[in-house]
Amino acid sequence: MPKPSILFAASECAGFVKSGGLGDVVAALPVALHAAGYDVRLVIPRYDVIPIDQATRHPSPLGVPIGGGEAWCGVFESRIPGSEVPVYMLDHHSLFGRGYLYDPPGSHAPDNLARFAFLCRGALQLCRYLHWTPDIIHVHDWPTALIPVYLNTVERGGPLGQIATVMTIHNLAHQARFPARELAATHIPASEFRPDSLEDHGGVSPFKGGLYHATKLTTVSPTYAREIRTPEGGHGLDGIMRFRGGDLAGILNGIDEQVWNPETDPAIAAPFSANDLSGKAACKRALQREMGLAERDDVPLIGIVSRLSEQKGTDMILSALPRLLALDTQVVVLGSGDPGAEGYLHMRSHFGGNRFRAWIGFSEDLAHRIEAGSDLFLMPSRFEPCGLNQMYSQRYGTLPIVRATGGLDDTVEQFNPDTGEGTGFKLSHLTLDSLVDTVHWAVYTYRKKRPAFEAMQKRAMRKHFGWDVAAEHYGEVYDWAVRSRRGV
Ligand code: ADP
Ligand code: GLC
Repeated sequence: MPKPSILFAASECAGFVKSGGLGDVVAALPVALHAAGYDVRLVIPRYDVIPIDQATRHPSPLGVPIGGGEAWCGVFESRIPGSEVPVYMLDHHSLFGRGYLYDPPGSHAPDNLARFAFLCRGALQLCRYLHWTPDIIHVHDWPTALIPVYLNTVERGGPLGQIATVMTIHNLAHQARFPARELAATHIPASEFRPDSLEDHGGVSPFKGGLYHATKLTTVSPTYAREIRTPEGGHGLDGIMRFRGGDLAGILNGIDEQVWNPETDPAIAAPFSANDLSGKAACKRALQREMGLAERDDVPLIGIVSRLSEQKGTDMILSALPRLLALDTQVVVLGSGDPGAEGYLHMRSHFGGNRFRAWIGFSEDLAHRIEAGSDLFLMPSRFEPCGLNQMYSQRYGTLPIVRATGGLDDTVEQFNPDTGEGTGFKLSHLTLDSLVDTVHWAVYTYRKKRPAFEAMQKRAMRKHFGWDVAAEHYGEVYDWAVRSRRGV
């Protein structure tokens, strides 16, 4: 079978706009697929925060049937930075020209069903406009989940009806649900408003509709693929996950090894590698200086880069903080999210002396410097579909301390003090004591078992996290989806 052609449809893409790991994946996986010989392209909204000076505008506008008639948008074309992968951006000012992606800070956009239904229908109109019928449309989480629904309903029997869909679940906890009365504006038939498709607790759930209608499903780690079939991990959708379990594959995310490379990273103070860690010591001192911490080599520096949320265990970190600092550590936090956590961290940072500093906001460069300059990276997530920071950490010789859940469990090997093997430290239950005890264990290893700690750093840095492995697995899923859609 020739390699299928693929349209990625997503709500964000790093290099243009990103709010989290989904954006990293959407920027990297298409590039790996392109390198493996696939015709792959991407469509995203053109939010006003995306600069368009490098993009070209298509001469004709695109008409998208939605609401009372047809809405028109512009189409910008660019490339995923550093690659040949085409990116189409749908430009509709009143829907996407709002300074935010999903919701304004601290509140909710009132019309997200209309906004993202527009993106979904617009992606299909784009195929018509380009005279290009991909074999696969690969969608990501709820914002593009209506595409499989459109293809199975309004497009069924038409020229696009043969397109197979693959839906990747990045995070089942982020479900959006909308009032039933808003469905009509999407032009999806009212008959889809039923409990095994779009209906969820009386509302419209695009996520659920996508899970039901996509030809094949994937999620971002094998362990999370198991967890979401259980009531504890399914966020209310475990029933449909079990129902579709035979069509679901767990494929570990990779990381962009060009962007996250301590040997070439332009954001960090000095380059380093597994063969020569001296640059890492310089990065640590530079980070301590930048954050106003005491410039000490001997103190274990613990880094955190995270959305501040219940998922990431932020509440537990805040509760544990005094006990973590009492272990004679330094802690730096880069994060944004929960306003209560932001306020607490801000205050604590102000009074944190030279041992604790928090930087509230989003900064890619500082994220790189924290990965490079820290000795340990703390990520005690309650659940974690995959997680990228623990992989970035390992690549920078910063040993992760994680909860053994989802992709964290799949990508970090527990330190074994008898054999010296492992690449990090894992706790199984997220309690205050187990969190503090595991950090204590890591700190003790740093101070008292230095050769073992350094051997672990080098082992972690030599691990391969490239996207090529995942791209191969996705290739198999695409073939599987095409065969299944065409009944061959
Ligand atoms: P999630 O997508 O659930 O937030 P991931 O670990 O998959 O978690 O990905 C998070 C991505 O967002 C990483 O690239 C991480 O470096 C980045 N990130 C998170 N918070 C910040 C921040 N405050 N500043 C810069 N980058 C951040
Ligand atoms: C989600 C998940 C995270 C995952 C990312 C990319 O944001 O929370 O675990 O790494 O998507 O797939």
